Amino acid sequence: MMRIVLLGAPGAGKGTQCKRIVDRYGLMHLSSGDILRKERAEKTELGQKAESYMDSGGLVPDELIVEMMSGAIEQAPAAGFVLDGFPRTVNQAKELDEALTSKDKHLDIVLNLMIDDQVVMDRMTGRRSCPKCGAVYHITNLKPKVDGKCDNDGAELIQRPDDRPEVVAERLKTYHEQTEPVADYYRENGTICDVDARGDIDEITASIFEQLDVFAQA
Ligand code: AP5
Repeated sequence: MMRIVLLGAPGAGKGTQCKRIVDRYGLMHLSSGDILRKERAEKTELGQKAESYMDSGGLVPDELIVEMMSGAIEQAPAAGFVLDGFPRTVNQAKELDEALTSKDKHLDIVLNLMIDDQVVMDRMTGRRSCPKCGAVYHITNLKPKVDGKCDNDGAELIQRPDDRPEVVAERLKTYHEQTEPVADYYRENGTICDVDARGDIDEITASIFEQLDVFAQA
């Protein structure tokens, strides 16, 4: 059983690394961004409420997110989960702690992916995603086997609307103001592990597995 949080700026590689973590340890990947995009695609009330915040690079209000993610965590298998994109404010982190404590549970580790803003800008503008299965590619760093098509299901890859440079700049500003303090919160209240997220994707995965294997074997 493992309960993990992946923290980091937009484009730090949370989604990329989460997919590898869930494959290795059999956990459920709970990405707040992916869940919100699905709600939007299905035109639900939540999806429609979230739209303008997401497209401007701001955060969706805490009360909507906490309810959505609490529901998702309830569905996680016994093996555990990895949270990607949640919590993103100190208030969300406190709500998560309270929800877990009320069920006699706790987080095992918070992995904090550290990266510079300029690297983020390069990664985001080159990112392509599969609208069907959520797989993530990059036009130079992580190419699909066939240009523009998903390796898993052949779907046409898309560029996310919030990956335009002006929205990425706003997302970075939001991250520094509201999400960086979450790392400080966990530094005081939990187990946080800083991971250098600037290098090669496989090397970053290896250093994450090194940390997580300790919990898997416990
Ligand atoms: P969300 O979808 O969570 O976006 P994000 O945190 O900004 O993260 P990304 O998915 O953009 O990046 P990532 O770190 O997963 O990077 P990836 O692996 O794809 O949220 C979207 C929006 O929803 C938010 O702006 C907000 O409005 C709302 N929202 C979501 N959660 C919320 C919450 N809790 N509260 C309030 N609002 C919320 O990698 C990026 C690219 O780089 C890819 O192309 C990848 O191939 C490439 N890459 C990855 N690693 C490397 C590497 N090591 N070297 C070279 N290239 C790499």
